[in-house]
Amino acid sequence: MDIKALLAKMTLEEKASLCSGMDSWHTQAIERLGIPSIMVADGPHGLRKELPLENPNDPVNTLEAVCFPTGGTIACSFDRDQMRAMGKALAASCKAEGVSVLLGPAANIKRSPLCGRNFEYLSEDPYLTGELAAEYISAVESEGVGTSLKHFAANNQETRRMTVSAEIDPRTFREIYLAGFETAVKKGKPSTLMCSYNKINGTYSSENHHLLTEILRDEWGFDGLVMSDWGAVNLRPKGVQAGLDLEMPTSYGQNDAEIVKAVRSGQLDEKYVDLAAERVLRLVYDLLPSPEETAVFHREQQHQLAGELAKESLVLLKNQDNILPLNPSQSIAFIGKFAESPRYQGGGSSHINSFKVTGALQAAREICQIQYAQGYQTEADETDEALLQEAIRTAQQADVAVLFVGLPDAFESESYDRTHMSMPQCQNRLIQEVCKVQSNVVIVLHNGAPVEMPWEPSVKGILEAYLGGQAVGQAEAELLFGLANPCGRLAETIPLQLSHNPSFLNFPGEGDRVEYKEGIFVGYRYYDKKELPVRYPFGFGLSYTTFEYSNLSLDKTQMKDTDTLKVTVQVKNTGSRAGKEVVQLYTSSLPGHQKKAIRPVQELKGFQKIHLEPGEEKTVTFLLDKRSFAYYDPQLADWNVETGTYQIRVGKSSRELLLFQNVEITSSPRPADPLTMESTVGDFVEHPQVKQLLLQAFAQAEPGKTFEELSAMLSSSYVLQTPIHTLCNFDSHITLDLLRQLVEKANTLL
Ligand code: BGC
Repeated sequence: MDIKALLAKMTLEEKASLCSGMDSWHTQAIERLGIPSIMVADGPHGLRKELPLENPNDPVNTLEAVCFPTGGTIACSFDRDQMRAMGKALAASCKAEGVSVLLGPAANIKRSPLCGRNFEYLSEDPYLTGELAAEYISAVESEGVGTSLKHFAANNQETRRMTVSAEIDPRTFREIYLAGFETAVKKGKPSTLMCSYNKINGTYSSENHHLLTEILRDEWGFDGLVMSDWGAVNLRPKGVQAGLDLEMPTSYGQNDAEIVKAVRSGQLDEKYVDLAAERVLRLVYDLLPSPEETAVFHREQQHQLAGELAKESLVLLKNQDNILPLNPSQSIAFIGKFAESPRYQGGGSSHINSFKVTGALQAAREICQIQYAQGYQTEADETDEALLQEAIRTAQQADVAVLFVGLPDAFESESYDRTHMSMPQCQNRLIQEVCKVQSNVVIVLHNGAPVEMPWEPSVKGILEAYLGGQAVGQAEAELLFGLANPCGRLAETIPLQLSHNPSFLNFPGEGDRVEYKEGIFVGYRYYDKKELPVRYPFGFGLSYTTFEYSNLSLDKTQMKDTDTLKVTVQVKNTGSRAGKEVVQLYTSSLPGHQKKAIRPVQELKGFQKIHLEPGEEKTVTFLLDKRSFAYYDPQLADWNVETGTYQIRVGKSSRELLLFQNVEITSSPRPADPLTMESTVGDFVEHPQVKQLLLQAFAQAEPGKTFEELSAMLSSSYVLQTPIHTLCNFDSHITLDLLRQLVEKANTLL
């Protein structure tokens, strides 16, 4: 299709009409020119395709589909292959259903555990987020289905999400909130991005030229289409100029008319409309479903896959006295409504109409006899005394009680944030009461984001199932009974209590302003720097087997920041079961040099999940580059690695690092900051030639002093911190004129 030629035939009105949806889920068709329309659908962890209604007043009806583990859950697999498998399956269902663009993945950073959409988001860490999102994207796109990486950017809360301004400093924005998107764009190559509702430093994402054009296209090389989140458009012509190609859903022609008006009145150059229309056309013709398409949506197969993905993602947090795996010959009680009807997905636009759901009770009863008591209700946070008493009796009579608890639907969803991190009090009470009569208690948690666990010391086992998709019960049963070995790792920190979270003082902000005052110290970057104890650290998760790490080696111990460092480590399964280990690599900028940038203690820069049979050993290789050590320097407007010693740390979690090696890195020469009258003596003497100049000038002004005396003076910490202009107060011979000449000359030597 010759897009340019097609564009040339279009009127301004037609081009403007392409810049918004035809309805909620389709791009605009133009009959006169035979331009077809394509369909988009949510995403991200299942296909949510709206079906036409027979009667316009009927409630929304969506296709019966498969709900995979949500983003926050599958991220705990720490496994690119699992993301890929999910992406491939989603693409197949899209193709079978004529959906051209799947609205996902959602790659915002979990700034606060309270964000209502954390269940969809991947992690508190941008590296993990970027790697996993890229894999999902490339898997879907490789099947000829488009993705929409969302919500670009800084949509880290639901409170006033359509009007709030996220106030973020440039370094934090790049290092924490954009880095995941950057990797996903560069590696995954999505066909589209979806801009967020919120403002960033006062400008709506939907009309943010810096974000949508300068960063996304000019710096990262993105050449696809940007669509708005549903209803995220403020001033449409401004958006077109900023790089927002497609408004979704339809605005019933109103914003298209605004575009036409802006062009006719000279406020908007038509070239921007051409560009947006061209991108829409490219998307449509690239992703138009083929009439010969034969893909089939194999729901049963995908249900099995959903269970497999959940097995790879659930995290075993506690296993005191090896309470797990359960022994099927014991008498076992399952307690809690979520055993029978699990909470396995979140509310809002990602809500899937699951064609079936497998709960743990159903799956476990295939393995052995299980006693069951409902224990609590989910409609309101009130203890139902009859249910509680029944649960206590059931638990008391068993050898082990497994309690399926967590957050009911109403506690967390798109559109609102939680205001606390507690589980329903009726469930906390149930756990306490059961613990009084039963010493062998295992908790299985169903929740989209962390909860406080006041009962943690009294229970022996905790399996974090998050929102594990529609086959979560199958995975839970297999993990609990040891038919599978747990291998998920936390993609976020679980703090002891909400008030320990770094965003606590500034979430969700005041009115329409939320200041990200914790800066780069998000998640483990904060807890580690503050040396705070946490309930469970980032990267943590237990297994039924044990792993030993040895022989961490680097292919060099000195390098330039432009070099690549190869790191290898050996990992051995020293237990008696096959299992998977997530080998994690963190880098740390060691103190001791003249450091200017404040850095986190350590940052995740590599992970690999490996399968090991008992006794088996594998060598894991990581390749590190400049970005593995860099921070974003706003003055330089670029990533920078300061010269110094960096440590490579490898191990099982952010708080269980086992092997360490150092590497010396030399920074690439960078243009020096110009010296001014406000620069300190220290700034001057950093440059050897400038130091000589300074000494010579002082020697002339003060002939009585020896060179050594002057040199000593220039190295006292008091003088080093003194601005050059202040030296005129030191001695009448050091005149302002002399200092001004010095500054001028010094700048020629940099
Ligand atoms: C959500 C998006 C979603 C869109 C379409 C919006 O409210 O923020 O994530 O893709 O609706 O349902």
